[in-house]
Amino acid sequence: MEREQLSLHMNGGKGQRSYANNSSLQRTIIRKTRSILEETITRSTQLNREPPTFQFYLNDLFGNDFNTIFKSLPGFYERLLEDKGHKFSRCFINATPGSFYGRLFPSNSINLFHSSYSLHWLSQDPLLRSREVASLNKGHCHIVSTSPPEVYKAYLKQFQQDFKLFLKSRSEELVPGGAMVLLFFGRDETPRRTSFEVTSLILNDMLLEGLIEEEKMDSFNIPAYKPTVEEIRHVIEEEGSFFVQRLEILISPWYEGINIEGGDGFFVDGNVRAEYITKNIRAVMEPLLSTKFGGEVINELFIRFKKKIEQIMEVEKLEGATLVISMTKNH
Ligand SMILES: C[S@@+](CC[C@H](N)C(=O)[O-])C[C@H]1O[C@@H](n2cnc3c(N)ncnc32)[C@H](O)[C@@H]1O
Repeated sequence: MEREQLSLHMNGGKGQRSYANNSSLQRTIIRKTRSILEETITRSTQLNREPPTFQFYLNDLFGNDFNTIFKSLPGFYERLLEDKGHKFSRCFINATPGSFYGRLFPSNSINLFHSSYSLHWLSQDPLLRSREVASLNKGHCHIVSTSPPEVYKAYLKQFQQDFKLFLKSRSEELVPGGAMVLLFFGRDETPRRTSFEVTSLILNDMLLEGLIEEEKMDSFNIPAYKPTVEEIRHVIEEEGSFFVQRLEILISPWYEGINIEGGDGFFVDGNVRAEYITKNIRAVMEPLLSTKFGGEVINELFIRFKKKIEQIMEVEKLEGATLVISMTKNH
C-alpha cells in the first residue's frame, strides 16, 4: 500500500452504511471530552476583546467525501445563527485535502489544531518493506495474540516515525503559543482486543476456507496502531516542540453511543449491540478492505464479524481506550 492511500477513507455519503450515520461512538466520546477542547481554546485566545473571526480548515486525505460535508454547511451555518446569533456569524469554513503526515499550511498561520479519531491511522503498511517480519505474521493482517514481538516493533516504529512528523509539521504551522487537542484510539495496561485483531482473525478463517487469495492476504496489513501513553509521551519528548498540558485516557465499551434510553446500551441484547458495533466498524473499514479483497467478500466478512462479536461478548467485555491530549507549542 502506498503512502497517503486513496483507499483509506470512511464510507462516504449519508446512506445506511455511511460513516456519517454510523459514528455515534466517536460523536459520544467527542462530546464527553469537549471540556478539554474548550479549556484549550480559552487558554489560546485573548480575553476581553471582540469575538474573534473563526476560520476553520477541515483536513482529510484526498479520497475523503468532502462533498457530503460541503452540502451540510448551509444547515450548519443556519443552526449557528439560531444558537449563537450574529456575533458568531463570522465563521468561515475551508477544506484542506492532504496527509497530515507532512505540511498542510503555511508557517506560523494556525492558532489551534484539533484532530479526532485519526492519528491511530499510519501513513503506510508497517510491514510492507520487511518481508521477513511479515512472514512471521503470515495469515494475519494486524497484531494478533500469536504475533511475535517483531511485529509489534514494526508497528510501533511506523507510529513513532509518523507521529513525530505530524508534531514537527504542526509545530511549524502553529503561531507562537498555539495549541493542539488530539483524540485518538490508544491502549492502557489492560490487554484488550481490537477491532483490527478481530478483522484479521476473520480474514484468516476466510483465507483457510479459500474465500480470499493468499497473495492478497500476504500483501496487506491494516495501517493502524493504538499506542500507549508512554509511547506517545516518548515521541512528544523526543520531538521537543510541545508541552503536554493534559493527557487523559477514557475507557468505553465498543457499543458506546448506542443511545438507548436508560443506560448506554446496558439493557440492549447482544444481537443489537453486535449489529451496532459491526455497522460502525464497517463504515470505517469497508473502503480499505474492499479495495484489497474485492467488494464480493465484504458482506460475508461483516456477517462473520457480527457473529464473532456476539460470541466474544458472551465471555468478555469489549472495551477500547481513547487518548485525549492537550498540548501547547514550546517557545
Ligand atoms: C474515523 S475517521 C474520523 C473522522 C472525524 N474526525 C471524526 O472524529 O469522526 C478517520 C479519518 O482520518 C483520516 N485520515 C487517516 N490518515 C490521515 C492522514 N494521514 N491525513 C489526513 N487524514 C487522515 C481518514 O481518511 C478518516 O476520514
